Amino acid sequence: MKNKIDLITNEIQNFKIEDAVSLEKFRIHFLGSKGIVKELFNDLKSVPNEEKREVGQLLNSLRAVAEEKHIQAKTTIDTLNCDLNQIDLSRTADDLQIGSRHPLMLVRSEIIEIFSRIGYTVSEGPEIEDDWHNFSALNFAPEHPARDMQDTFFIEKGENEMALRTHTSSVQVRVMENSTPPIRTISPGRVYRNEAISARAHCFFHQVEGLYIDKNVSFADLKQTLLYFAKELFGEKAQIRMRPSYFPFTEPSAEVDVSCSICNSKGCNVCKYTGWLEILGCGMVDPAVLEASGIDSKVYSGFAFGMGIERITQLKYKVNDLRLYSENDVRFLKQFTSGI
Ligand code: DAH
Repeated sequence: MKNKIDLITNEIQNFKIEDAVSLEKFRIHFLGSKGIVKELFNDLKSVPNEEKREVGQLLNSLRAVAEEKHIQAKTTIDTLNCDLNQIDLSRTADDLQIGSRHPLMLVRSEIIEIFSRIGYTVSEGPEIEDDWHNFSALNFAPEHPARDMQDTFFIEKGENEMALRTHTSSVQVRVMENSTPPIRTISPGRVYRNEAISARAHCFFHQVEGLYIDKNVSFADLKQTLLYFAKELFGEKAQIRMRPSYFPFTEPSAEVDVSCSICNSKGCNVCKYTGWLEILGCGMVDPAVLEASGIDSKVYSGFAFGMGIERITQLKYKVNDLRLYSENDVRFLKQFTSGI
């Protein structure tokens, strides 16, 4: 019996536990309910009485050696729990939470796509802008109310006046200064105005500016371009109407309404029962603006337009509060998950 215990002690010491599988094998083989240690304890009955005490002690220490080895190996394996045997590589992966694109970015991309189909490129300009590009080159008179402190966030006053751009029309000027016609470009971007934040106004929002300069560009080209745009964005049935308006940088100027796609122009609270929704401002680029930007107004003419992305998104997705766009409320944002 003592010999047997010696042999088993050796066996325990030499048993190689390398992973969870061999650990379990070890446990069953030596410490399991039908394992060797148990078996030896059963054999104790047949040991002569005078040896029982000694053999019993030897068996106790044999069991202690086996248990100690088991605990130590288990701890090592648990800490190295990157053990591949513990990972079921054949299991299907958990679903990843898919984020969603922001509704303003969805609409921005759609607008870019619609215009790129008729040859418009995308140009961008700085959000911190000088007086020349944001106002002066666009024909804003020195005392024009739009330059007022109330509307504009000034960064630096005085000679090197710098401000957060109040519209993306500033990019028009930059594009005209840096290229020769024909020019066909749109400029999406963020703009800033010093306004109190409410459901209907915000201190920053997004616009897309459009500019087309070439020889013999007429108001009819402007009208057809915007009609094409409205039909692509709101559906084939969309109609547009133009109302005379005023902007310092266009002459003549117009505001464009699109037929209300929510009620099919029957009248609803979104279109205030008029059947029409205002979506953008536009006009023929004022010759003074062409000249200020280095383009010969006797040779070239062109049109420009500018629209608010928030406004169009509001119409497309029936968003009734501008603040939702910038509050990062997941309940709002997740409605725009593409479901890919
Ligand atoms: N910049 C104008 C605004 O922020 C929008 C606009 C109107 C842009 C007419 C244009 C335009 O290019 O021709 O309200």
